[in-house]
Amino acid sequence: MTRVFSGIQPTGNLTLGNYLGAMRRWAQTDQHQTDSVFCVVDLHALTVDQDPARLRRLSRQTAMLMLAAGLDPEVCTVFLQSHVDEHTRLSYLLECVASDGEMRRMIQYKEKVARQRERGASVRLSLLTYPVLMAADILGYGADEVPVGDDQVQHVELARDLAVRFNQRYGHTFVVPKATRPAVAARVMNLQNPTAKMGKSDDSGLGVVYLLDEPDVVRKKIMRAVTDSGRSVEYDREGRPGIANLLEILAACTGGDPEALAGAYESYGALKKDTAEAVLEVLEPVRARHRELCTDPAHVEGVLRDGAEKARAMARPTVDAAYRAIGLLPPAFETALSAVGR
Ligand code: TRP
Repeated sequence: MTRVFSGIQPTGNLTLGNYLGAMRRWAQTDQHQTDSVFCVVDLHALTVDQDPARLRRLSRQTAMLMLAAGLDPEVCTVFLQSHVDEHTRLSYLLECVASDGEMRRMIQYKEKVARQRERGASVRLSLLTYPVLMAADILGYGADEVPVGDDQVQHVELARDLAVRFNQRYGHTFVVPKATRPAVAARVMNLQNPTAKMGKSDDSGLGVVYLLDEPDVVRKKIMRAVTDSGRSVEYDREGRPGIANLLEILAACTGGDPEALAGAYESYGALKKDTAEAVLEVLEPVRARHRELCTDPAHVEGVLRDGAEKARAMARPTVDAAYRAIGLLPPAFETALSAVGR
C-alpha cells in the first residue's frame, strides 16, 4: 500500500481552509486508501520564536482537531513529531549529505530570512536546516507520496535529492518520495482579501473562519466578507474573486458546483446567508467531536502515545539502517560486525 506522510505545523488555529482544503479528504478518503501518517510537526514550529504555553496549547489543539475531523487512529497514524526521536536522529545524518549551498538556495528560506530581518529579529539556524528535518520526516517513514501545496514542493524535491544521494553513496536505504498535489475540494481564500489564501497564521482573523469559532462569529465573518461592486452573482475567479470564493465554499460544503450555484442567487446577501449556514453544518460534527475530546484529555493523550509508538516502530528500522550504512557502529558492534563478516 502507498505510504503517505503529511505534516501540519501547530503555529495557529486551524481554519476552514485547512479543513476543506485537506483535512476532510484525509479523513473521508485518504486514510482508507493509503497507509497514512499524520504528524503534528511541533519541532518545525520552533524555527521561529514561539511562546511555550501557546505552543503547547496549539500542539494539543491541532492534534485534537485532526481527530475531531475524523482521522481514525485505527486506520492511520496520528502523533506529535517531538515524541519520536527518529526525526532528529535522522535529520543529523541528512545534514551530513546536504550541502550548505543547497540549503541557502531554498526559496522559502530566503523569503523568511528577509521577513525576519525586516522585523529586526535574528534568524535561527534551524530555519536554514528546516528542510532537512522535513526530509527526515519523509524519508524516515519510507513515504512514497507527500501531498503538499506549491510552497512545499521544493522541500520535497530536496528530500528526493538527499534520498538519491544517500542511496548512491551508502547503498540503498531510502524510498525516493514524490510530491503530489492533493485534489482539493476548495481553495478557500481569505474573506477580507479573496486573492490571498485563508491561512492559519493570519493577523486580524476577520477574514479567517477558524474551526473553533462560535457559530455567531462564523456568521458574522461570512456576512462581512468582501464582495465586489457588481450586483449579479456570477462565478468569475479573476474578475469577482470575493463572490467566487463564497460560491466555492458553498459548493465545497454542499457538494454542488460553483458555476451552477451562481445561477440560483439574485443577491449577495442570500448567497452569504446560505454559505454561512452550509459552513456551520459542515463544521458542527467536527466541533461536537472536539467538545467530546475536550472532556477526556486522558483519551487524547493515550491516542497520541499509541500513535507515537506506532510511528517509532515504523521509522526506527530505516533510521538504524541509515546509521549503519553511513559507518556508525551499532551498540553491540562486535556481534553485529562479525555477523556480516566485517
Ligand atoms: N513544512 C511543512 C509546512 O510548512 C510542514 C511539514 C513538515 C511537512 N514536515 C513535513 C509536510 C513532511 C509534509 C511532509 O507546511
